[in-house]
This record gives sequence, structure tokens and C-alpha cells, in this order.
Amino acid sequence: MNKRFFLLLTVLPSLSLASCVSSRHAISDYVLEMDYANDFRILQITDLHLGDKDDIQRHFDFMDLTINEANPDLIAVTGDLFTYASKGTARRLLDYFDSHSVPWTVIFGNHDEQCYFSIDWLTDQLNNYGSHCLFKDIQDDDVHGNCNFAINLKKDGKVFEQLIFMDSNRYYFGSYFGYDYFKQNQIDWYASLIDETTRDNGGTVVPSLMFYHIPLPEVNEAWAAAEKDPSLNVNGGSQGENPCNPEFNSGFFQVIKEKGSTKGMYFGHDHVNNYIVNYQGIDFGYGIKATDRVYYQDSLLGGRVISLHDDNTMSYQDYYHTYAEVK
Ligand SMILES: [Fe+2]
Repeated sequence: MNKRFFLLLTVLPSLSLASCVSSRHAISDYVLEMDYANDFRILQITDLHLGDKDDIQRHFDFMDLTINEANPDLIAVTGDLFTYASKGTARRLLDYFDSHSVPWTVIFGNHDEQCYFSIDWLTDQLNNYGSHCLFKDIQDDDVHGNCNFAINLKKDGKVFEQLIFMDSNRYYFGSYFGYDYFKQNQIDWYASLIDETTRDNGGTVVPSLMFYHIPLPEVNEAWAAAEKDPSLNVNGGSQGENPCNPEFNSGFFQVIKEKGSTKGMYFGHDHVNNYIVNYQGIDFGYGIKATDRVYYQDSLLGGRVISLHDDNTMSYQDYYHTYAEVK
């Protein structure tokens, strides 16, 4: 629940049920649009972890290697942009993304509140950034988290593909201490998004891709399946560390499967994993870490392009660079 909404409920207990319902927004309020062009290139970068003590320009020069080579139509940053960053550092990074004159978007990781600003402040910056930034969070809604929205890729007036961005949240301090999980109201929001998009498409399900930060618990089974059958490891990527994900499984994957729309899910979080595993018909893709902040492996830094083709299939191109290339 958004803090502002929680405060409202606390100080105004006499509000009627109708007022609570008013926190619900139409699904269409969460949807942005872009034009689709053949071989649409989404560059996923992840886990920058920029902080005030870094040589920020060095990281910008390094990420330029990947961004310029990838020539993306959209840059999607899948969380952990910052660790111990101030507002000034945050603004510098947003301005850096925007300087490429390419649409860009971000979702948050578990470390993005470990900063000298709040997640709500960062959300507000992104909501109001304008220019090439595509980001939308409704801050007075009843959908948990700070970055639940979609970008519809339009072709010939129809939704060709839906890109769904969700907040996998940060830490959980309840029955266990560890990584948080997708809440039921987020799962309900996803289901409504798919249902309404299907309805508006004349009853035909529109294919979708999802982007979030912390992998679902099912990635453990996907990992084991790929160890048994290496052909499931789509890109022959690194399985460098055991997945760190929530202890609690809130059942999101079952809903995703039942809805039959999402065919690829892309996340970050585990810095030396970069494999893509096709699990039960859905690609689970660990991103490629974008900087040498926090823990990393020199040979596993860069980004990945997810190309969308006219027949709704995807292909992947991994880009790797080293800091030795930065002059
Ligand atoms: Fe990270």
C-alpha cells in the first residue's frame, strides 16, 4: 500500500467504504503507449547500484558502450539503480538515460530505498520527468508497490504486444525476514490487465512480456530443470549463484500461466546469473548487470536486447563489455 494512502486511512477513519473504493483506478489509467516497429529492440540493463561515492561518469561511459552498440527502441532498467545515492545522484542518472533520446523506463529493486531519498520521492521524479521517460505509478491506488504499469506496443491501431512492469517490492518483515513477494492486489491487477486487454482485442489474448526485479520462487525449479537439461538454457548463460528469492510463494506464476498471455519474464537481482530458461513454456530471463558496483563478474557486464518480431516471437542478443574499454 502506498504510504500516502495508508496515512489517509489512518487519519480519516470515518471515511465510508465508498471512499476506499475510490482508490481503485481504471486499468486504462495504468497503460502507456508506444508504436511497434518490426524487430522492436528492448535493451534490458539491471543492477547499477550507483552511489554518491562512485565515479558516476565512469559508469556512464561504460554503459554507453552497451547502449550505443545495442541501438534500442526502448531501454528497460530492471531495478537496483541505486545504493546510498542522494537526490543529486538520482537526478544525474535519470538525465543520463534521457540523454540518449530513446524511450526509457525503470522499475525498482530491493536496494532502491537504501538511499538518501524515499521510494516515493523517486517515484514522483519519474512520474513527472517527461521527455523520453515512460513511467507511471498511481500513488493513491490500492495496488501494492510503486511501479505497476504497462506499455502497449501499437501496430495498425491494435495492441501488438503488451510490456508489463511490476514492483517485486523490497523486504518482508513478517513470518520471515527476507525478500518480499508480489501481493494479492498486484496479482489481481495483473489478471484485470490481461482480461481487459483481451476484451478490448475482441477476445483474443494479446502476448505480453513482464519486467520486475526479484525472481519468482519458480526460478529455483527452472534452474534445476536447466541443470538437468541444458537445452532449456536458451542463451547458454551463466548459472553463477543460487537464486535469492522470496520464501513465500503468493501464487503469481499459476495466474500468469492460466491467463496465457505472458511468454517472457525478465528480472535482475542475482548479479552473476544471466541465463534464460524456458520453463513451462515461459522464458525466465536473468538480465546482465550494467556496472561493476557491489558484487559482479568482469566477464558478465553489459546488457541484453530482447527483440520482438512480427510473428510475436522473441530473440535475444547479449552484449558484454569490460571497464578496460572505457578510456
Ligand atoms: Fe542488485
